[in-house]
Amino acid sequence: MKLPKRVTICEVGTRDGFQIEPDFIPTERKIEVVDRLAATGMPRIEVTSFVSPKAVPQLRDAEEVMAKIIRRPGTRYSALVPNDKGAVRAVDAGVDDIHTVVSASESHNLANVNMSIAESITKLKATAEVAHRGGKPVYAGISCSFGCPFEGDVPVGQLESVVARLVDLGAKGIGLADTTGMANPAQVSRVLERLVPRFPGIEWTLHTHDTRAMAIPNILAAMEAGVTNFDGSIGGLGGCPFAPGASGNVCTEDLIHCLHAMGVETGVNLDALIETSRRVQEIVGRALPIVKAGKWDRRYPLPDGVAARLPAR
Ligand code: COA
Ligand code: ZN
Repeated sequence: MKLPKRVTICEVGTRDGFQIEPDFIPTERKIEVVDRLAATGMPRIEVTSFVSPKAVPQLRDAEEVMAKIIRRPGTRYSALVPNDKGAVRAVDAGVDDIHTVVSASESHNLANVNMSIAESITKLKATAEVAHRGGKPVYAGISCSFGCPFEGDVPVGQLESVVARLVDLGAKGIGLADTTGMANPAQVSRVLERLVPRFPGIEWTLHTHDTRAMAIPNILAAMEAGVTNFDGSIGGLGGCPFAPGASGNVCTEDLIHCLHAMGVETGVNLDALIETSRRVQEIVGRALPIVKAGKWDRRYPLPDGVAARLPAR
């Protein structure tokens, strides 16, 4: 396999995850989780969203969370914004990076942000101006890049035209999001082989949801195509409230476990991350698929009588 030596993980659990939790996660708990994540050595954290509190009440405390987290040098803190109003709030709150959102599908974009794609792009131009005036790079995420729960297939030409408009407004990076886990590895390869060479200098991220157990295979395919930035969510939390059938992101601990086992570095302390996941499990009040079996190098005692029958080594 053609694997990179190192990849950069962006933890999105406190945004993609907490936005869809049925109960409001208390602000203090959100702050605690962000700080614990940073302490694992996580290089990027998408902390929250500066969206309409009517649309996503779970993240209505975005300012307070940003104000009270302890900023670890070496971690970049970002937030999701859909429009210039969100960008003003995010810049004022002191984010390092602005993550924007638009969908490659008209139906999902209307459902998610109540705008046509063209209206969103106009808003995102204003958003980028606010971000750039504030000295903040823009990373533009594209929901439903590989399929839409309402429309089905999203033609790659349509995706490319959205990418082109986001590159035009000065995005430093493009995040291709598989919002409801519709992508497969062959498709991820095809799409990246077409898009990556057409937009030189762009930093590509793959944002996966594990709805159909294809998140890690899709990430492997993206690594083969040269992508080295991946989003993950602690405990596999996550899902878009405006996409039916949405389920959690790729579980960050599982992804990092897989990467480390293959010798790909992330700079994240996996043991500390698993501890954080246990804490998140308490906070959300249900069992999460943390690495139950232990890491790959865990060894168990032999059953009674087996040791004596092993050939001498
Ligand atoms: N932050 C806070 N408030 C915002 C806002 C923002 N970024 N953008 C708009 N608002 C407020 C407006 O001020 C207005 O408030 P008012 O009713 O008190 O006057 C209200 O929200 C409606 O504004 P409008 O511009 O008409 O927006 P809308 O109702 O068409 O909603 C969005 C558009 C984009 C603001 C809304 O759909 C949204 O926030 N979506 C987020 C979706 C999301 O996070 N999805 C999951 C992640 S992909
Ligand atoms: Zn997502």
